[in-house]
Amino acid sequence: DHIDKGDYEHFMLKEIHEQPMSIRDTFRGRVAMDESKIFLGGVLDVMPQLIKAKRIIIVACGTSWHAGLVGEYLFEKYGRIPVEVEYASEFRYRDPIIQEDDLVIAISQSGETADTLAAIRKVRETGATILGICNVAGSSIARETDAGVYTHAGIEIGVASTKAFTSQITVLTMMALLLGSKRQVLPASEYKELIHELIQVPSKIEEILKQESEIEKIAAVYKDVTNALYMGRGLLFPVALEGALKLKEISYIHAEGYPAAEMKHGPIALIDENMPVFALAANDQSYEKMVSNIQEVKARKGKVIAIATKGDKGIRKMADHVIEIPECHEAVSPLLAVVPLQILSYHIAVMRGCNVDQPRNLAKSVTVE
Ligand code: G6P
Repeated sequence: DHIDKGDYEHFMLKEIHEQPMSIRDTFRGRVAMDESKIFLGGVLDVMPQLIKAKRIIIVACGTSWHAGLVGEYLFEKYGRIPVEVEYASEFRYRDPIIQEDDLVIAISQSGETADTLAAIRKVRETGATILGICNVAGSSIARETDAGVYTHAGIEIGVASTKAFTSQITVLTMMALLLGSKRQVLPASEYKELIHELIQVPSKIEEILKQESEIEKIAAVYKDVTNALYMGRGLLFPVALEGALKLKEISYIHAEGYPAAEMKHGPIALIDENMPVFALAANDQSYEKMVSNIQEVKARKGKVIAIATKGDKGIRKMADHVIEIPECHEAVSPLLAVVPLQILSYHIAVMRGCNVDQPRNLAKSVTVE
């Protein structure tokens, strides 16, 4: 692993740019050459429990929790299995109902987060199978789980997680597809198509990274705002949360992520000509609804920065700024849509003179309560 910044000014920027490579590293050796099969050696021993699991409970904190929310959509859609996503810190102090045929997945970049570790120790007493999705090999969570899949994103130094997040989602996507296939709820043709889509992701992220200078110009426009909203639907709702978190963490701008349809239940009251709204509008089943949500923001004079599919003319007419992402299957849209938001937050924070790699009051790994 390289632990110098190379030609980059900050680790965070380097890690953002490493994502095509880190995602490739995540699926390397796990996807068959002919794209017809996923192989996750780390979960082979628990495959029977995986196949017969009645429910998946995901426990995590911070950015890893957002990856878990993406996992919820994927496991439900492609694996047809009910999922609950829990903040580890809440879960550990509740009296959660965990059954033997539950499958618990702990997601943690560091593998050392105190709350996540405590949550799996609590599960341990119940007999449920526990899987880990960790980046750091040999970490406490990796050691204390029954099985798991390493993300192989390489060392992540920036406190604000970027490449670990996309690698976590890559693992969750592979797990969801594998589960769907093994449980015979995902047709072979769709399984193959989705694997193919996943393999295309790194080169599509390369396309997005080429737009960095344009994204930087947008960052310059909004660098002095005091508030920002992020909205998305479906698989892009967790990306809205993650976009808002990135901005808060490193630029200290107050930001909130919302499912777009919830805007009318409160946040829309905040919209005036000073409020930037980052709208995630991929080419998915909720596209038309996102268009209406964008119109609602524009009608109140809010500023819209849309993340939209390349060539989308409709959104370009309405939004103040558009950042394009390549056409993709909705299953992989979170992996693409998050990248412009990472770049935007990074440049806004740099322009504000913030310490991007070491934001105030935050730690890379929270090993105490
Ligand atoms: C800290 C970090 C975040 C991270 C979270 C969970 O808050 O600053 O970037 O998402 O912990 O960490 P983990 O190592 O468990 O993924």
